[in-house]
Amino acid sequence: MSPQVSRVLAIIGQGYVGLPLAMAAVDAGWTVIGIDNFEAKVAQINSGKSPVEDISDTQLQTALTSGAYRASTDFSSVAKASVITICVPTPLDEKREPDLSLLQSAASAIAPFVSNETLVVSESTSYPGTLREIIIPIVNSLKPKNSATVYFASAPERVNPGDPVWNQKNTPRLVGAVDTVSQDKALAFYQSICEAAVSVSTPEVAEAAKLLENTFRLVNIALINEFTQLCASTGINVYEVIDAASTKPYGFMPFKPGIGVGGHCIPVDPLYLTWWARQNGGHAEFVESADRINHEMPKYVAKRAITMVDSSVVNPRILILGVAYKSGVGDVRETPVSKLRDYLIALGAEVAWHDPLVPVWEGVEPVDLDWKCDLAILATKQPGMDIEKLSDRGIPILDCTNSMKKKNRVSSL
Ligand SMILES: NC(=O)c1ccc[n+]([C@@H]2O[C@H](COP(=O)([O-])OP(=O)(O)OC[C@H]3O[C@@H](n4cnc5c(N)ncnc54)[C@H](O)[C@@H]3O)[C@@H](O)[C@H]2O)c1
Repeated sequence: MSPQVSRVLAIIGQGYVGLPLAMAAVDAGWTVIGIDNFEAKVAQINSGKSPVEDISDTQLQTALTSGAYRASTDFSSVAKASVITICVPTPLDEKREPDLSLLQSAASAIAPFVSNETLVVSESTSYPGTLREIIIPIVNSLKPKNSATVYFASAPERVNPGDPVWNQKNTPRLVGAVDTVSQDKALAFYQSICEAAVSVSTPEVAEAAKLLENTFRLVNIALINEFTQLCASTGINVYEVIDAASTKPYGFMPFKPGIGVGGHCIPVDPLYLTWWARQNGGHAEFVESADRINHEMPKYVAKRAITMVDSSVVNPRILILGVAYKSGVGDVRETPVSKLRDYLIALGAEVAWHDPLVPVWEGVEPVDLDWKCDLAILATKQPGMDIEKLSDRGIPILDCTNSMKKKNRVSSL
């Protein structure tokens, strides 16, 4: 950014995307106002307790103490910012279609306070056209009369929570703006925080690229989940097959089977794509099929698990290990473990769960590893779970993560 422009950044939404961005911007010399409409979260953040695993309390406290960062519920403070980024959730509604209500409310809430010459960037994942057709009309219709010029860009976030290697700084950032001035400003902003900002010609290209990236993961996970079931039915070890195929130096990328897909991105974003396809008279058949296969995986795992229990046990006690949607995080949004638990219960099992990173799940408290059970299912490998101790007690384990030592009574998918 040019030196005369204030380096004050307002970030709307202080979750898995917004808070790490805030810390990266503080590191890069920005003064950051982290706005969130959830009062309890704002109070927690300002007390120095990070709600996000990737940000330590110490890092947060340092940023707060230096005065370079503060969380707030007050949208009027965006008036001080030269850049505003929107990082609010873009979930699915009850029909499993895009729900942009939070994005729209965030745009409406900032609009009356946007200063002249401010850059507004959407980082939230959505279908192509969201910036141009939804966000810009809202901001332009509600902005103050003296804010004649507001710049707009889309720069979809690519953060991978729990990833020890790739972060805000070293993950290249796609930037697509509505005009060249907006593009230059957005590139300068991201270049001040990230090692690489990649320019694309329009916001729609950036928005579509984000959907392509996550759909690529969804369909490849579905492929390996389907392939795993084919291998298991013929006694072939799928992991050995994956390792064998991975020796090919080109044209193959390994994906691992699991109990399904979870989190806010992989199960959700491809449905933004399928919806967008339908709006444009198309049909993303391949993606819909992948979505269906992944949704059926918990049922397959539940059935496999039940076959491992001694047939004389009528209502087996089954312990699920790890309920977060992936290793290393306490995030249970869209976790496929919910469906796994429901199928197990439908098959007559009594189910309990254990996850060192999740204090309460759907109103239920965890049990410890001493819980008496007929079978354990390792659904998500979490740090701090002494699973080998469980297998030493002779409890059969269905390891859906392929992370346990090969032992008698331990089966993998
Ligand atoms: N979590 C990820 O791994 C990830 C990765 C890449 C992209 N994304 C995308 O980034 C966006 C944000 O996801 P997230 O995981 O950070 O969500 P999150 O739920 O962790 O955080 C979002 C925050 O926004 C706040 N919020 C909601 N509506 C608001 C509003 N109108 N005004 C102010 N604050 C509001 C919520 O209280 C919450 O604290 C989504 O579009 C998501 O798809 C997420």
